[in-house]
Amino acid sequence: MEQNRRRQILDRGGLEINWPGEPLLGSAYGEAEIEVVTQTIRESMDPTVGFGFICREIEEFEAAFAAYCGTADAVSINGAGTGLDMAMMCLDLEPGDEVICQSVNFRAAPMAIVGQGARWIPCEVDSRTFQADPEDVERRVTPRTRAIFAVHMNGLSSPIDDYLEIAERHPHPKHGPLKVIGDAARALGGGYKGQKIGKAGWMTVFSFHTQKNMTTLGEGGAIATDDTEVAKRLRQLRQFGGAEGWGSNYKMTKVQAAVGMVQLRKLDEMIESRRRLAKARDEMLAGLEELITPYEPQDCKHSYYLYTLLVQQAWAGKKRDRLMSILREDFGVNTIVANPPVHSTIPFLKQHTGDCSLPVSEEVAARLFCVAIHPCMSDADNEYLCAALWETVEKVRDAR
Ligand SMILES: Cc1ncc(COP(=O)(O)O)c(C=O)c1O
Repeated sequence: MEQNRRRQILDRGGLEINWPGEPLLGSAYGEAEIEVVTQTIRESMDPTVGFGFICREIEEFEAAFAAYCGTADAVSINGAGTGLDMAMMCLDLEPGDEVICQSVNFRAAPMAIVGQGARWIPCEVDSRTFQADPEDVERRVTPRTRAIFAVHMNGLSSPIDDYLEIAERHPHPKHGPLKVIGDAARALGGGYKGQKIGKAGWMTVFSFHTQKNMTTLGEGGAIATDDTEVAKRLRQLRQFGGAEGWGSNYKMTKVQAAVGMVQLRKLDEMIESRRRLAKARDEMLAGLEELITPYEPQDCKHSYYLYTLLVQQAWAGKKRDRLMSILREDFGVNTIVANPPVHSTIPFLKQHTGDCSLPVSEEVAARLFCVAIHPCMSDADNEYLCAALWETVEKVRDAR
């Protein structure tokens, strides 16, 4: 982006919206969502109807969500955090069992592992994609490994087929091939090898939290799977065990499901808006040597839940932090680091992993930062963010 053009854009004024680094509403809401909420409440006000759970709205939403992911089934739940717990419950973990999961991550998946009494084995990420590095995953497999917990970081698919091969190569002595479970809380609507994220692997957990690519009134989630037996188990877990084992209450509400149908119909369009903004941004930032734009492997379709940039190696740590503070102070541009390695930054998880060294993860976390992206962002705001990034990088460069 030429200097004159940048100055022109910055002189026009600031951002139209004071975007948080990770916007507090990730999707777009409109009249259709409002109408479906009031309509569902009206219908539920009848004492012979109520907000009862086994209802048309939930069944329709689950069928539509499974069809979207291309899976045999989908089970709606009240959030991805509980969904990850449920996924771990389906493993029937025993003390000493191990589950491999990346540390550059939100804390939810490691918490789910530890919560079910297993050992969390943190692994490194690929520094271009932020996904668990298959080679490092394989190095960490032991006879006690039960599963590979693949977190589709920041909107991009992880290389699930690579993990499935590892799972076959190193079967557990009692349980057979390792299970590959996906946490796609941040990656709904992204693609992998011509299919939607959620199709590959044993089961995939999605979030409909307010910040995610779509939301069911702020909370909610779903688990997509081709394994109909596991879907049955998940339904039992979510509703007090059904007629059989243990269970609790992890249900989505009827009103959320009704809104979910509206959001799901808009989802691909919202992902396309994110992608269009991201690609325009990639172009506007091209030539800015100190910044590396998000990588999209050929077999993946990034959903750009977050637009994750890396600073060059020499700028890791202090210079990256300086860049983030100039962006905020001089240009009103908020950014976040998603995410520092949780094995070293979350005290509870640190207690469970002890002295664990993950140099690649530490370095990646010192270089990455995320700039807001949102389906409703204007081209003018997208341009402003890029002009601000150029100017800021030049300031940091000159301060050498
Ligand atoms: C990667 C990841 N996994 C799981 C979760 C938890 O999702 P939920 O808020 O639906 O419980 C989140 C964030 O909210 C996340 O970013």
